[in-house]
Amino acid sequence: MKKVTAVDIARMKEEGRKIPVLTAYDFATAKILDDAGVPVLLVGDSAGMVEAGYDTTLPVTVDEIIYHTRAVARGRVAALVVSDMPFGSYQASIDDARRNAVRLVKEGGAEAVKLEGGRRTAEAVRAIAAMDVPVMGHVGLTPQSVHRMGGYKVQGKGREAEEIIEDAIAIEDAGAFSIVLEGVPAQLAKDITERLTIPTIGIGAGPDCDGQVLVVNDMLGLTGNRVPKFVKRYADLRNIIYLAASEYVKDVEKGTFPTKEHSY
Ligand code: KIV
Repeated sequence: MKKVTAVDIARMKEEGRKIPVLTAYDFATAKILDDAGVPVLLVGDSAGMVEAGYDTTLPVTVDEIIYHTRAVARGRVAALVVSDMPFGSYQASIDDARRNAVRLVKEGGAEAVKLEGGRRTAEAVRAIAAMDVPVMGHVGLTPQSVHRMGGYKVQGKGREAEEIIEDAIAIEDAGAFSIVLEGVPAQLAKDITERLTIPTIGIGAGPDCDGQVLVVNDMLGLTGNRVPKFVKRYADLRNIIYLAASEYVKDVEKGTFPTKEHSY
């Protein structure tokens, strides 16, 4: 399998090839997703919600993202590993942004980093890109802004749309190699995708982005029955695990496992 780089991802837009992206947080899953040909694995700060059980992504630390990134980087052969910069790791100062991006690359093995925010984080994007670390932007519904947004709500309806277009342009101008468009109307995502030269990666942003990202736990059916409208369920792993665990409990209780067959 040929190694995927940020340069390859940027080129996929020119070539009119769609870009599938999934989140990954651990070695075993990263290995499977890489084998399945997913070209980009995002070590999202969504790990805080779907893996650690926090209500928001805000408590996630750089050390936690490094831990997950190491595991994912060890599991993949070809996929590009992009690590989220968690809340507080780039907002307070440009020096913080530079230092924490370096930590994700040096200690985690990330090959690119992702930052949320548009015009207000463009300077941080520029500073990180200037260190030759590829940067993925993220505009629209930015989960680290949950308190400002008053919840996880679709952004860019009505007059706000122009603001999001300006945010996306600022991130491209700052040197990002791609950008996530999250929770925005499909027409706005289409307009931004046509306007930018870098690829847009949609999530809850309709069918016209250059790529698509989903939280792997959502698409595998590990996150319960209430998932956002934009999620397509490709498996029901919760039920598979539930049935397997229930059968194991019964076997052990009845003494039907382990048997001689499983003994030395
Ligand atoms: O943290 C994350 O998983 C993300 C994606 C949903 C884009 O930012």
